[in-house]
Amino acid sequence: MSTVTEQEEKLAPIEAPDDQLKIPEVLPVLPLRDIVIFPFMIVPLFVSRERSIRAVDQALAENRMIMLAAQKDPDNEEPGPNDLFDVGTVAVIMRMLKLPDGRIRILVQGVSRARINYLEDTQNYLQSRIEELKEQVPAESLELEALTRNVRASLDKAVSLGKNISPEVMAIVTTVEDPARLADLAASNLDLKVEDAQSVLELLDVTARLHRVNELLAKEIEVLTVQQEINIQAKGEIDRSQREFYLRQQLKAIQQELGEGNELAEDIAAYREKMIKAKMPKAVDEEVDRQLKKLERMHPDAAETATLRNWLDIMVALPWSKSSKENLDLKKAQEILDEDHFGLEKVKERIVESLAVRKIKEKPKGSILCLVGPPGVGKTSLGRSIARALNRKFVRLSLGGVHDEAEIRGHRRTYVGAMPGRIIQSIQQAGTNNPLIMLDEIDKVSADFRGDPSSALLEVLDPEQNNSFRDNYLGIPFDLSNAMFMTTANILDTVQPALLDRMEIIRLSGYTEEEKLQITLRHLLPKQMEENGIKPEQLKITNQALHHTIAMYTRESGLRQLEREIGKICRKVARRVAEGDMSQVSVTEKNLHEFLGVPKVEIDEILKQDQVGVATGLAVTATGGDILFIEAITMKGKGMLQLTGQLGDVMRESAQAAYSYARARATRLGIDETIFDRTDIHIHIPEGAIPKDGPSAGITMATALVSALSNRPIHKNVAMTGEITLRGDVLPIGGVKEKVLAAHRAQIKKVILPAQNRKDMEDVPQEPQKDMKFVFVENVQQVFDEALMPATPLVVKKAGPPKKVVTKTAIRASRKVPATKKSKPKARAAKR
Ligand SMILES: Nc1ncnc2c1ncn2[C@@H]1O[C@H](COP(=O)(O)OP(=O)(O)OP(=O)(O)O)[C@@H](O)[C@H]1O
Ligand SMILES: [Mg+2]
Repeated sequence: MSTVTEQEEKLAPIEAPDDQLKIPEVLPVLPLRDIVIFPFMIVPLFVSRERSIRAVDQALAENRMIMLAAQKDPDNEEPGPNDLFDVGTVAVIMRMLKLPDGRIRILVQGVSRARINYLEDTQNYLQSRIEELKEQVPAESLELEALTRNVRASLDKAVSLGKNISPEVMAIVTTVEDPARLADLAASNLDLKVEDAQSVLELLDVTARLHRVNELLAKEIEVLTVQQEINIQAKGEIDRSQREFYLRQQLKAIQQELGEGNELAEDIAAYREKMIKAKMPKAVDEEVDRQLKKLERMHPDAAETATLRNWLDIMVALPWSKSSKENLDLKKAQEILDEDHFGLEKVKERIVESLAVRKIKEKPKGSILCLVGPPGVGKTSLGRSIARALNRKFVRLSLGGVHDEAEIRGHRRTYVGAMPGRIIQSIQQAGTNNPLIMLDEIDKVSADFRGDPSSALLEVLDPEQNNSFRDNYLGIPFDLSNAMFMTTANILDTVQPALLDRMEIIRLSGYTEEEKLQITLRHLLPKQMEENGIKPEQLKITNQALHHTIAMYTRESGLRQLEREIGKICRKVARRVAEGDMSQVSVTEKNLHEFLGVPKVEIDEILKQDQVGVATGLAVTATGGDILFIEAITMKGKGMLQLTGQLGDVMRESAQAAYSYARARATRLGIDETIFDRTDIHIHIPEGAIPKDGPSAGITMATALVSALSNRPIHKNVAMTGEITLRGDVLPIGGVKEKVLAAHRAQIKKVILPAQNRKDMEDVPQEPQKDMKFVFVENVQQVFDEALMPATPLVVKKAGPPKKVVTKTAIRASRKVPATKKSKPKARAAKR
């Protein structure tokens, strides 16, 4: 600026003092684009328009005075007579400088307000005829004083709020006495809009002008206040993030110093990497991210840190979007199923059917298969085989003894040692989100005060709900809809009805001896040989030896015990091989005892001779079909009926019905009618510790009763089952296949069944059908005809001491059962 000033053409000072200046009537006009100039203000102006430059020249040529008037429209390049405000300011040009680009710079000082009365647009410049305006100066008053003070205070305030007014101006503000000058000074320093400034200029009444200036000042202060608030806020935000950044840097430095930071940062980076790999759903991703941020802030040794890390480990390890490619090739599936399991045609057929449905339907809401049957018939291993056929991962989840809902659904993370529930654990174990999860032993789930696991299972097994299965530990839903569920049970009685309703029941009811032989040859023997390291050429077992093993060393529906016995043989052989005996070991029926010891199964004593008061019944238990003996004896008394052996209500009533029937038909049945007045009857079903229930022993109890009362022995080798009514009708029962297989195992020759069960013989394999005789009865009289022999004279005695027909030892010997049966004694309840 200083260089410019030096080149300025210094004009000679105007002689007369300001107030005595004579203002001419005609003056050239300088239109101002965006500024209003007040009297007494000294302002530099740039002049670039041709006509304006000429106007300045004209002024300089005369008395250096010029009329300054603001344009109504600042963009107007050639303002004419109507484009200027009427009121303007007469000014004196104090200095002038020609700039190299042709423009000029002038310094003007306002002299007085004036009104343009007439404007002439000459060729060279605008020329005006003006009239000087005198302002009305009021007398001193309180109002005037208040107004001036207010202007001063407001200007101070504006400056304190950041208004840019130079200290020199502020100094003048405090000293200036004239209220009119103060108003003009304030207005010209507020950067007002042209219209606002013009409105101040036009006010000749000084009081009104002060009011107006105060108004504008108030508005300005308001704007400044808001502006400052915005500034403070923005600054605050910047401050906070700067502070946080600073603190973090410090924390990092401290952690590095302590040798902690790096580890944590590395761990967090590792988690992030795993998160990306796991391809989590968005919601999960966000949650994990949130927790990671939390981890960053936590002390590495806090107990909570460990908990959170466990959770993170599980979250990033879960197969959120990892699945195995499902095999839907039906032929291949059938092949695999056949390869792994012998027989079980119906079951396999059903499985392949459900596969077919999966193949043609996008998201089949298929029902859940439930395999029901006695132990060792291959339920679990069938599940494994199905998984293999489908190319899904297999996970077995044993529900035996689960009685806490949290075991299925997990504990909240707040508990010490909390873990996800079994379902999520299974998914984690599988490593894919579409495994086959086998819920094993669903009949052993029990409810207690900790909640009912069945209800959690309901959700798991419901295809409508399980796409957002919520585990308490994860705290976020997991989609189970890709997983396939199967269940197994030994019996269905203890399964919750709602659960049962969701499942499709497939029964596996045990194998015949022949089937067991085939399974042994194809599966159990090769498997055991391999497990014990025996090569095929080192062991030879004859079929007779295997038959003998099945009949004399095992007594079960399934194959568990048999597999163990085969294992025992293999181990004995392995020992010989290990001791250096390289010759082939041959196992035959004759030398079998060398490998397995004495036979475990003896033919039941009872089945060896015809006896009075002991009838053979057939029952279905959790371990499959079985035979059971019912004893009845008479003793001196008053016609009481006593029942023992942990019988349930249904069975008791059934016994009562049999007794009443026998009493009512005494004569026809060859019973001395007076016997009821002097004798008590006691019916007992051995294995007294095991609860039994169900109506299917009805005809067996009746037979034992009548035999004892009439002294007619019962044919050995006859077994029976059927419900009895008071009138002696025989009603159908369930579990025919299991019962027939059990009778066959026990080498029974004749089986008595209710006539209405004839249709069930379809399911019974050929072998027992061939080996045994079946009698179908409608009335209990037919049972007696088949089972009872004529009264033996030997046993006919006058009423005397109680006749103990079966010795205790005989019973005990007869009840030698394989260990598998004992292992699940509770579930064993003779039903049907
Ligand atoms: N049809 C079959 N073909 C080949 N092997 C079989 C067959 N049935 C059962 N097995 C074999 O018998 C053994 C016992 O079967 P598994 O363990 O599946 O019984 P389970 O029905 O699950 O019994 P539990 O009710 O006690 O759990 C297994 O080694 C299995 O491979
Ligand atoms: Mg099993």
